Amino acid sequence: MTAVSTDLISEILELKRARNAVILAHNYQIAAIQEVADFVGDSLGLSRQAAATDAEVIAFCGVHFMGETAKILSPGKTVVIPDMDAGCSLSDSCPDEKLAAFLEEHRDKNYYVIAYINCSAGVKALSDVIVTSGNAVKIVNAAPADRNILFVPDQNLGAWVMEQTGRKMDLWRGSCYVHVEFTRESIHRIKAEYPGAVVVAHPECTHAVRLLADEVCSTEKMVSFCRENPAKDFIIVTESGMLHRLRREVPDKNFIPGPTDHCACADCRYMKLNTLEKLRDCLKNLEPQIHIPEETRAKAERSVRRMLELS
Ligand code: 13P
Ligand code: SF4
Repeated sequence: MTAVSTDLISEILELKRARNAVILAHNYQIAAIQEVADFVGDSLGLSRQAAATDAEVIAFCGVHFMGETAKILSPGKTVVIPDMDAGCSLSDSCPDEKLAAFLEEHRDKNYYVIAYINCSAGVKALSDVIVTSGNAVKIVNAAPADRNILFVPDQNLGAWVMEQTGRKMDLWRGSCYVHVEFTRESIHRIKAEYPGAVVVAHPECTHAVRLLADEVCSTEKMVSFCRENPAKDFIIVTESGMLHRLRREVPDKNFIPGPTDHCACADCRYMKLNTLEKLRDCLKNLEPQIHIPEETRAKAERSVRRMLELS
């Protein structure tokens, strides 16, 4: 670590103390942010932390919808994010006004709306329950048997949940631009290079890629799966930040990034907008901050809390 970054880290830790802040970071954050965070995890773990923290300020290093989820659960706290432009292609694929129009058009279906957490507060407010990749199977299994289900916004995660639960759902046609970059060919190639390696993929990957995986799971489950599995080598088919978390917590194993057709690994351009400097600045300035109109927040809180109760 350079002298400059050591100074920067001291500055962040001092600001954190002065602000009575907690730093939450998603598994896809750069290594330096994961190292300075109080908690690093998947969307479910981060939501639980955001709901339970005593801190006055939550500095959320992830993407915008994650900061929004923290604000939905802890409206009295100040929630800051390092970069307001850190969005999510999956969330963008389902704007709340489009979902509202779709539900209006299909009133006869009386949909029970299940939304993957990768969506805006406006979409959460229109949904009956929220899921993450870590609890989607359990929550869909618990959905009312007599209702039609609309699953938004990820068609790949939705298809995987249908395979796991046998429950039929109508799927919104959204996807994550990072996970659809992994292809059957790119995974075949890396498997040929590491023939004994176990393939672990995120459920946002396409069906063709999931078929090549030995395990399909959330980023948090990847850590326990790789720790407990007797294999030495693992091909990790998700965003590259995950490799740091795995190497840190399971140091005796070898983690190989899943490649795409163009790159040796896959980076989420939104997650990677966050830097230590921007984290320092958001703690210093308490900007950019997450604000949600109260009516939307309160409606969204119902569906997020239902998720927490069911998981
Ligand atoms: P996890 O909840 O599995 O960490 O996934 C979040 C995400 O954005 C995946 O692209
Ligand atoms: Fe969104 Fe995909 Fe980035 Fe996750 S990896 S934040 S789903 S764009």
